[in-house]
Amino acid sequence: MALTREMKLLFRLTFLTLFLVTEVYTQQSPSTDFILSSCRRSFAQLDLPAQYVLKKFVRFSAIDPTGAAYVITDDLAIKCGYTITYDAWGNISFRASLYSCYANVGTVHQYDVGVKIEVASRSDMTDAVNYMKVVSCPYVMSPREIICETNYMEVSVRRKIPIISEGVFRNEPEDWSTAFTQAVSGLMSVWQVVFHISTTQKTTMLIDAAQNIGYGINTTESRTLLRTSYNASHAVPQRISGVTFSTVRATLFYKQRWFIYLVDNAVACPVDDVKFTNGWIVWTIPKSVSPLLTGAKGIQNRRIQFGVDLQNLTNVDILSRGVEILDSNTVTTARIPVGALGGYYKSRVVNFQYGRTYNIQPFIENVWTDDGWGVTKYTIIKDITTPFEERPPVITNETVPSTLIFNVTVGTFLPDVQLINFTVGNTTLMVPQGVDSGFILGNKTLPNGDVIFILKVPFINQNVYKKYLPDGILFTLNVTFGFKIIPFDETFTTTETVECFIRQPNVGPCWQKGGMLTTTLGNLDPSWSINIKGTPATSSSGMLSVINQTHAEIQVPAASNLAMDEVTIKGLTTTIPLSITDQNGNNLYTFLISCESSPQTAVCLPDGTIQVSVKEISNIPEMKLSELTLRDKRCGPVTTNGGTAQFSFTVNSCATTRRFEGNIMIYDNEISYLSSVSGKVLYRMPVSCKYSTNGTLVIDYTPRNNPEPSAQNGSASLDLVLRLSKDDAYNVFYEDAEYPVVKYLREPLYFEVELLHRSDPQLELFLDSCWATTTPDMRSLPMWPIVDNSCEHNEPYQTIFHQVRADSRVQIPSHLKRFEVKTLTFMGEGAIYGGEIYFHCEVIICDSSNPTSDPACAQVGSCIPARQRLGRSVDADDEHKLVSSKAVFLLEFKSRVDAKQFQNHPQRPDVNF
Ligand SMILES: *[C@@H]1O[C@H](CO)[C@@H](O)[C@H](O)[C@H]1NC(C)=O
Ligand SMILES: *[C@@H]1O[C@H](CO)[C@@H](O)[C@H](O)[C@H]1NC(C)=O
Ligand SMILES: *[C@@H]1O[C@H](CO)[C@@H](O)[C@H](O)[C@H]1NC(C)=O
Ligand SMILES: *[C@@H]1O[C@H](CO)[C@@H](O)[C@H](O)[C@H]1NC(C)=O
Ligand SMILES: *[C@@H]1O[C@H](CO)[C@@H](O)[C@H](O)[C@H]1NC(C)=O
Ligand SMILES: *[C@@H]1O[C@H](CO)[C@@H](O)[C@H](O)[C@H]1NC(C)=O
Ligand SMILES: *[C@@H]1O[C@H](CO)[C@@H](O)[C@H](O)[C@H]1NC(C)=O
Repeated sequence: MALTREMKLLFRLTFLTLFLVTEVYTQQSPSTDFILSSCRRSFAQLDLPAQYVLKKFVRFSAIDPTGAAYVITDDLAIKCGYTITYDAWGNISFRASLYSCYANVGTVHQYDVGVKIEVASRSDMTDAVNYMKVVSCPYVMSPREIICETNYMEVSVRRKIPIISEGVFRNEPEDWSTAFTQAVSGLMSVWQVVFHISTTQKTTMLIDAAQNIGYGINTTESRTLLRTSYNASHAVPQRISGVTFSTVRATLFYKQRWFIYLVDNAVACPVDDVKFTNGWIVWTIPKSVSPLLTGAKGIQNRRIQFGVDLQNLTNVDILSRGVEILDSNTVTTARIPVGALGGYYKSRVVNFQYGRTYNIQPFIENVWTDDGWGVTKYTIIKDITTPFEERPPVITNETVPSTLIFNVTVGTFLPDVQLINFTVGNTTLMVPQGVDSGFILGNKTLPNGDVIFILKVPFINQNVYKKYLPDGILFTLNVTFGFKIIPFDETFTTTETVECFIRQPNVGPCWQKGGMLTTTLGNLDPSWSINIKGTPATSSSGMLSVINQTHAEIQVPAASNLAMDEVTIKGLTTTIPLSITDQNGNNLYTFLISCESSPQTAVCLPDGTIQVSVKEISNIPEMKLSELTLRDKRCGPVTTNGGTAQFSFTVNSCATTRRFEGNIMIYDNEISYLSSVSGKVLYRMPVSCKYSTNGTLVIDYTPRNNPEPSAQNGSASLDLVLRLSKDDAYNVFYEDAEYPVVKYLREPLYFEVELLHRSDPQLELFLDSCWATTTPDMRSLPMWPIVDNSCEHNEPYQTIFHQVRADSRVQIPSHLKRFEVKTLTFMGEGAIYGGEIYFHCEVIICDSSNPTSDPACAQVGSCIPARQRLGRSVDADDEHKLVSSKAVFLLEFKSRVDAKQFQNHPQRPDVNF
């Protein structure tokens, strides 16, 4: 008869399933195939993979054999034996005890659990899709089954009608039999329950009443069942072998006039059995749980099974996962290493800090036999999450300076972390965007599965901050990485500053020794190579001698074409164009090293013959050596060959003059070169020979300062200012704080010189000469002319004068002069100067109202209009004034990118990239 009833129910369930599936099809939802069902020990389990339910609203209902649905709330889950868990990835597991309230309990060890699952994207569930699932599990219940689920405790006991000899009135004064008194006074013909709070305190209530306060109590034809929460009103905490248990002892009884039937349903589950120690989860389970052993005698066949996710692990599995199961007399201890297979790590963010937890769901099944209860199966299921462990991400600087690329890694992370964006300097880029913008992004999975992210930023990126220091450039990368953790999109960031200092090699003074120009280089990286005018300087070529790891000496034959002679404002200099490249051939630095001109090329013979050799001058195009002359234009070179002109003359010829300095007699002459087109002097080199009374002594040959700036710092600079304008409108000037102003080599500079605090409109300021140096010292070398003898210097690049007109700022235009400088001027053959540069001007202030002859104003260069040249200087002491600019930094750092910018520039000489 019972079978018939069950068959009916099954049929109904099946019918219902079909109906619902049909409905589901019409909603274009495929099938319930994605819901994985399984039978695990005394549970039916459904698994819903995250991909179908992530960020959706999911509701479970139990379906009873009549087809009615009961929404599973937290309370119903405890009372009826359901557990719903979400893992960190959003997968959902639903577990039902085979004795759950609405399961269909068969008599052939078959249990059917019917579940309705509603999945909606709206919280009110109005767009829910319904899925229907029935899980049928075969299971043979032991006489007593006790389950410690994560959210409830359950005990089910087989009802065994005792035979007379084992009657409940057996002689032992068993504790539970004290319920008898209560039972005797209880109602007839109804199931009731006595809760034992202590040996003396008991509470009796009807089953209905107990169910109303949250207990799950049922009796079937073969079993009684009690289900309770861990903190039920009649739960008693109890310490057993150092572990706290929540214990509920209830005696169910049924009384008729001549008969009282009592079943002891005691359940005890541990609550503080899991501890965390350094890297281990330590789970302690007492062997004898005394509340469960009332009336038990002759315990035997004790057996323990350990597993994860309700599935057995063999001893081999246990060993291979590093789990240790230790047995003592009183307790069994499972030591699970954090990270063991079967559990999972999850990234978390707590207080904006990144870290991780580890989760594992182990169980222990303890089975024993005793003569009171028969077989007891005692199963404890745990859902263990280790405490949050902070793992601040570490940004590692893996930059190799010579690559000129920042290489930073950030990690380590679990694979559930995604890099979303990164901020470099002031620019925030989303990851795909960043890849498009020239950053290199990557990730690497480490052998343990962790992930690191890699970001590479070239030093030349505009978001890299560059600071120019006296001995090199400090590159600073401020980077913030933005991450999110999938699937729940928790976000966190991490910020770091990474620096890399690129030393600038320092160049020693250059001097001449035995026909060789010699200089030293310091701060060298052993991986760099040195080129002179494109020719590698090596030890084998004799041009390079290594002094130590970072210092080397460079030697270049003065007469070779690797050295260049140049006319500068200071006169003639020999320069060595030198470049330093990294191991990939990237040009790191270029230098134009000035060497003091060669005394070896002038010889003063005791017989009064002076011999001088002059090399071709690199910055005078198409120079004809044969047109060089001494003061007497009829005296030319005796020979010209191999780019060198040889002069030989006696001290009493070629307009050589003589003067005395103490006991030294000095003969002076000058070699000069006039432009055949303009007749202007392009080059001028004084030649001197000193003779003392002791005979020929000194060989001297000094380039004349041309013109010699009579430097007078201090008071003069108060009255004058040399400013750098932001553009040729001369409206906006760089502020003091903006110095050194950084300029790229092709950018023109706009200067303005102003006479300050002078209200006399008759005064007029003239630029006599302007020049640039690499140090604040206006007399230092090298030196480049900008305004030469009052004229715009025009070789190889032109300086341009700009007119000054009166406006709101400029009241007296004659107090100002403006000029534009092309920075590419600062170059020689094969090299452009980069680095700090200072500008200096020597100015003359004339009184334009008083045209009487004045030596100072009359003497000045040819480009000042005649009328003003005749003007008298205002103050004889003050007539020549000097003014200097603050530092301008010419960006000399050249990478491949920079190189491209210059590649097509017609003025760029042989660049070696
Ligand atoms: C008790 O068990 C029976 C049989 O399994 C079932 O029909 C009934 O719904 C259960 N009652 C409660 C309250 O759990
Ligand atoms: C798990 O192991 C126990 C004994 O240790 C055994 O009775 C049970 O059948 C096993 N279960 C499965 C699913 O293998
Ligand atoms: C730089 O980044 C790359 C990833 O592209 C990595 O393989 C390398 O180890 C990093 N570090 C160095 C020192 O190159
Ligand atoms: C790592 O890089 C690969 C390819 O560049 C990409 O497909 C993958 O999504 C990245 N992984 C993470 C975690 O960002
Ligand atoms: C970033 O912005 C700040 C303030 O606006 C500014 O001072 C700084 O120069 C900027 N840095 C870069 C690299 O652009
Ligand atoms: C970058 O990512 C972080 C973390 O994911 C986030 O908090 C931040 O708002 C993002 N920034 C931008 C500009 O998108
Ligand atoms: C980064 O690495 C470079 C190259 O090894 C090193 O020069 C620099 O000092 C490091 N800087 C920082 C701040 O990590």
